[in-house]
Amino acid sequence: MLVPAAHFSDAILAIHILAVVITFGVTFTYPVFALVGNRERRSMPTLHRIQHRISRFVINPGLAVILLAGIYLASDEHQWGHFFVQWGIGAVIVLGALEGAVVVRGEARLAELAERDVAAAGAGEVVWGEDYRALLRRIGGVGALLDLIVVVTVFFMAFHLGS
Ligand code: HEM
Repeated sequence: MLVPAAHFSDAILAIHILAVVITFGVTFTYPVFALVGNRERRSMPTLHRIQHRISRFVINPGLAVILLAGIYLASDEHQWGHFFVQWGIGAVIVLGALEGAVVVRGEARLAELAERDVAAAGAGEVVWGEDYRALLRRIGGVGALLDLIVVVTVFFMAFHLGS
């Protein structure tokens, strides 16, 4: 049976929205990681490694799905002239650049530094080095900026801003 064109583009919209949820949803829970990690410091190397894998294998491919589905929707509905679509393209470029250039490498380095400090503590209390704390603040700040861009973009898309 043929799928009517309107239903097909609805399915692509659903994929676009699902990709947004799957790609970025987990990043909004990272403050919980930080809270647990503050109490159970020996878990931090593993938590940073999980974040690193999420960036590489969930966020980066997810951005590509969001972009491809968005391009289909904008073309199918002749919406290229609308501000929210142009903003979406800009958002994907900025998110991808920050993820690729800063976050992925930062998370890998955080895992190494946390592992070093845990090993240095032996059986005693884990004390974070200044380099670990500085990098954690930096990556946390960039992560908060990425989440803010996602929130703003969802509002612009939902309001079809500029259409
Ligand atoms: C991080 C980037 C993006 C996020 C978070 C995002 C989020 C969303 C959300 C939540 C919707 C549903 C809004 C609604 O229909 O009420 C939507 C719709 C839409 N998005 Fe995106 N989007 C992003 C990137 C893009 C890109 C790059 C494009 C185009 C190349 C695009 C094109 C569209 C279009 C055309 C619709 C409207 C579909 C319709 O309702 O007719 N989006 N987006």
